Amino acid sequence: MKPEEFEKRRQQLMRMVGQDGIAILPSAPVRMRSRDVEYRYRQDSDFYYLSGFAEPDAVLVLVPGRTNGEYLLFCRERDREKELWDGTRAGPEGAVEIHGADDAFPIDDIDDILPGIIESCTRVYYTMGMYSDFDTRIAEWINSLRLRESKGVHTPQEFVALDHLLHDMRLYKSRAEVKAMRKAAKVAVQAHERAMKTVRPGMMEFEVEAEFRYEFRRNNAWVSYSPIVGSGGNTCTLHYVDNNHELKDGDLLLIDAGCEVDYYASDITRTMPVNGRFSPEQKAIYEIVLEAQLAAIDRTRRDVAWNEPHDAAVEVITKGLKQLGLLEGSTAKLIEDEAYRRFFMHRTGHWLGMDVHDVGDYKVGDQWRLLEPGMVTTVEPGVYIPNESDIPAKFRNIGVRIEDDVLVTADGPDVLSKGLAKLPAEIEALMGAA
Ligand code: GLY
Ligand code: MN
Ligand code: MN
Repeated sequence: MKPEEFEKRRQQLMRMVGQDGIAILPSAPVRMRSRDVEYRYRQDSDFYYLSGFAEPDAVLVLVPGRTNGEYLLFCRERDREKELWDGTRAGPEGAVEIHGADDAFPIDDIDDILPGIIESCTRVYYTMGMYSDFDTRIAEWINSLRLRESKGVHTPQEFVALDHLLHDMRLYKSRAEVKAMRKAAKVAVQAHERAMKTVRPGMMEFEVEAEFRYEFRRNNAWVSYSPIVGSGGNTCTLHYVDNNHELKDGDLLLIDAGCEVDYYASDITRTMPVNGRFSPEQKAIYEIVLEAQLAAIDRTRRDVAWNEPHDAAVEVITKGLKQLGLLEGSTAKLIEDEAYRRFFMHRTGHWLGMDVHDVGDYKVGDQWRLLEPGMVTTVEPGVYIPNESDIPAKFRNIGVRIEDDVLVTADGPDVLSKGLAKLPAEIEALMGAA
């Protein structure tokens, strides 16, 4: 992402914050995995969106009315000894020279500097409740001003939820963001292809997971969530991540795996027969989900309500399950009673972007939002047949989900994850191609 992209975002936000406002964002904290071992650091999405600054222990401040600098960064100072262990730091000098801050200060000086800047502002834009330690610090800075009110010190009059503004911005993807998302989708498509060519009976689910991790890392990408690699009955566990069972001849394998490239995620699911050939029952369920997914993608268009792709998928799935005898009754009544939820219990999609379940409201007031160009959503209907006695044995434990990432454009849906085998014949051909 070019520096101008971050600059553009800051300018857009500052126009909304206004001349008498201040926006304050903390970096993500370093999190411990176990004892003294840290998780790999990943910057907070909102913080990164505005700065491109990937270090911890930093605070980003935007003060549109400040004549001697609107964009301030507080960050760690350079430190020979610490950099020897953990790698280089930008330091306040680098924050200005490399990252384009107007002014930057050591993070240890923030208590002395920031309250004085807050004092000159009427409104504070801040996302409460994300990082409770930082919430406390904000309260302390405001209190330190209040204590001096009798000496003529001002305190801000309004606190505004920053996330509303910022998350609405993040919902509309720019050209540069779409480019990163295409890359994330492409790498994940390659990984799914690699896995499909590798799968065979007797392999372990974790061995298939390893193919994804290998393909991601060799493309400088990371998993954007724990890969779901479930075979047999595990296909029906929506967030199955144990990935420790053997792939059995005759079973299905459901893989939900995506990656993050340059802070943007992909999220793709494919379902395939372990032995490379769908059984008639597996194929029957698969074709219902496929038809539902294509119908939902076709409704992922501008000026269509967010819920419509889901409604389209529900209708196809309800009718399909009726035809197979798994649901009985009138389609309208089955939909009204949500009878399909026994087999399709999740939503058809979610916003996708810097986060897998990305930010942005799904409703405006009590109305579903209309889709607009630049929004990216997943389209991922599924059917999961439980292992229950009232269901014909031949259908039990069949779980199918098909998930693609779709950009809404002026010219219709643009499937970012296109090109990956999806028709049963395409999947069988790829699996036979090893
Ligand atoms: N991988 C999580 C989801 O599909 O929402
Ligand atoms: Mn997924
Ligand atoms: Mn998803």
